[in-house]
Amino acid sequence: MDKKRIVIGISGASGAIYGIELLKVLKKLDTIETHLIISKAAGITIKQETDLSVGDVQALADVVYQVDDIAAAVSSGSFVHHGMIIAPCSIKTMSEVACGITSNLISRAADVTLKEQRKLVLMLRETPLHAGHLASAQKLASMGAVIAPPVPAFYNKPTSIDEIVKHSVGRVLDMFDIGADIVKRWK
Ligand SMILES: Cc1cc2nc3c(=O)[nH]c(=O)nc-3n(C[C@H](O)[C@H](O)[C@H](O)COP(=O)(O)O)c2cc1C
Repeated sequence: MDKKRIVIGISGASGAIYGIELLKVLKKLDTIETHLIISKAAGITIKQETDLSVGDVQALADVVYQVDDIAAAVSSGSFVHHGMIIAPCSIKTMSEVACGITSNLISRAADVTLKEQRKLVLMLRETPLHAGHLASAQKLASMGAVIAPPVPAFYNKPTSIDEIVKHSVGRVLDMFDIGADIVKRWK
């Protein structure tokens, strides 16, 4: 495998822009191959929150799967990849993964990523969080997943939404050793 394969799930939490920015950044890197799954609810948030269509977002990825295609390559542990990012991750998708419920291709691919001991990062977007949400997040962390809510940093003095989004996306890519040069780092 020449390129690093990264699986990206976009679920229906607010912040579709995080998944979109991730795809845009990775598209510029010819060492990365992106495999994208968009949930049905994410189709609604993409429409509500951005000027793009689902097709526009899919066009940013190298390989696209339908969320109900449970027979897709990423459904199997024998399909080798370098990790999965769910950006943004809804409470529903996080809860499914925490319980091993694999009702669609995003939760199945995430479950497989964990069982194969590959990196799984969930950009969980909800607030406030009740005890059940926190218990699911804790369970996932103990299973090896990284819970990475896209909480903005301000030490880098962002002046636009774009900078805020890029910072969170860049910090997630740091976890995969993918340098995209979009993080204003503290020195
Ligand atoms: C505009 C919009 C914003 C939403 N924001 C959130 C959110 O921030 N976090 C969340 O957990 N769910 C949010 N939801 C609800 C999820 O879309 C819903 O729970 C859905 O079932 C998630 O399905 P999925 O995880 O398969 O995408 C939002 C829904 C809409 C329509």
